[in-house]
Amino acid sequence: MVPGVILPAMTYPPLGFGLGLRVPHFEHVLQHKPPVDWFEVLSENYMVAGGKPRYYLQQIREHYPMAMHGVSLSIGSTDPLDMDYLKKLKTLANEVQPAWISDHLCFTRCGNVNSHDLLPLPYNEETLRHLAGRIRQVQEFLGRQILMENVSSYLTYSASEMTEWEFLAAVAERADCLILLDVNNIYVSACNHGFQPETYLEYMDADRIQQFHLAGHTRQGEFLIDTHDQPVPDPVWDLYARAVELFGPVTTMIERDDNIPAFDELLDELGQARTLANSTLGKTEPVTGEQHAGTPRTADPVY
Ligand SMILES: [Fe+2]
Repeated sequence: MVPGVILPAMTYPPLGFGLGLRVPHFEHVLQHKPPVDWFEVLSENYMVAGGKPRYYLQQIREHYPMAMHGVSLSIGSTDPLDMDYLKKLKTLANEVQPAWISDHLCFTRCGNVNSHDLLPLPYNEETLRHLAGRIRQVQEFLGRQILMENVSSYLTYSASEMTEWEFLAAVAERADCLILLDVNNIYVSACNHGFQPETYLEYMDADRIQQFHLAGHTRQGEFLIDTHDQPVPDPVWDLYARAVELFGPVTTMIERDDNIPAFDELLDELGQARTLANSTLGKTEPVTGEQHAGTPRTADPVY
């Protein structure tokens, strides 16, 4: 174990089936209170006090549970942790009271260079030690366990000594954090690097898996690119079914960041996820989303 703060080994109650809250849907969500169990919000979009995004965030939060998802923690960087960023994150969390906070197992910055991209890390003991200490520091500062998400990648490092799934499982264990498993990212990386995506899933410890991401991707030549601009494709649905089989009714969310369709189109896609999860778990209740009444609610999802 890495020395440091001891946080209780716990998982958060599941939220059900959610969508990313995106600007083009703010008004629709507020007016119609669509039957979505929860929303994932991009932390960085709401870190400035005031303005329209904060207005909609506050209004919509009154009707839905939320989780905060970040892209700028840069947990794998060799730079010191960005305490200004963490203070803003904590302030926002105090306001939003999210079910949980997540970010990516990657680095985005080094020195004065900000890549604005989620860059993969070498999978070895040195990186493991580095990450475990930093994740524990972040958890101590925020006073809660965080979720780390697997990123998609298009390259590997000669310094890697283990597989990505061994690395992710070891990070979660040593840092005592939870995992946001992006099923699409596993599929994209599996195709790009030539491994079996099921092997990845089968290696993971169910106790650490708190959330799934689903998304679409784009083929460019020999590579799949994690573009989030398409509906979830069949191979990702198949892998999701396997993930549900292995890990049970894990909170699920569809990520769409580009080519954003009408809200109802995403709602239909979310219904597909709910139906697939229910049928995989052998449940027969219809997927109606009627449990969402458009009023403040605690997590009470139907699977
Ligand atoms: Fe993701």
